[in-house]
Amino acid sequence: MKILVINGPNINMLGIREKNIYGAQTYDDLVEFCKNGAKELGAEVDFFQSNHEGALVDTIQAAYGKYDGIVINPAAYTHTSVAILDALKAVSIPTVEVHISDVSAREDFRQISYIRPYCVATFAGLGFKGYTEAMKVLIQGKETHGE
Ligand code: DQA
Repeated sequence: MKILVINGPNINMLGIREKNIYGAQTYDDLVEFCKNGAKELGAEVDFFQSNHEGALVDTIQAAYGKYDGIVINPAAYTHTSVAILDALKAVSIPTVEVHISDVSAREDFRQISYIRPYCVATFAGLGFKGYTEAMKVLIQGKETHGE
């Protein structure tokens, strides 16, 4: 099981940005947390973070045929990007949406997620744990469907 964890804009600023919302841990801490989680779950995991929408689209396209699942926190692009949705649809890799914060309890503009209808599950407000929960869903899905 090969999983690609993709993070969008400003996730590299974890530990600096709005600590009251996103916590004090850094992006490197997030990567470490996910690596440990993947090890426990017996999955292989790679990571990509970018502040650029096109780079995220390129990375999703490049995942075609290489990964069994995608965990994605598109960050602000969640609420704006049809291009990321279309890229996910194009490669047709099972995908889980993750948000560190509970977007449902925040501003109106964060209530829209272009990718949510396409994703097999969404975890929001669980902090880093959302990423490992997302991996579990992808692994269970693969076991269930025997792909
Ligand atoms: C976020 C929530 C988004 O609304 C925001 O733009 C982010 C991070 C989260 O992980 O909670 O940058 O995706």
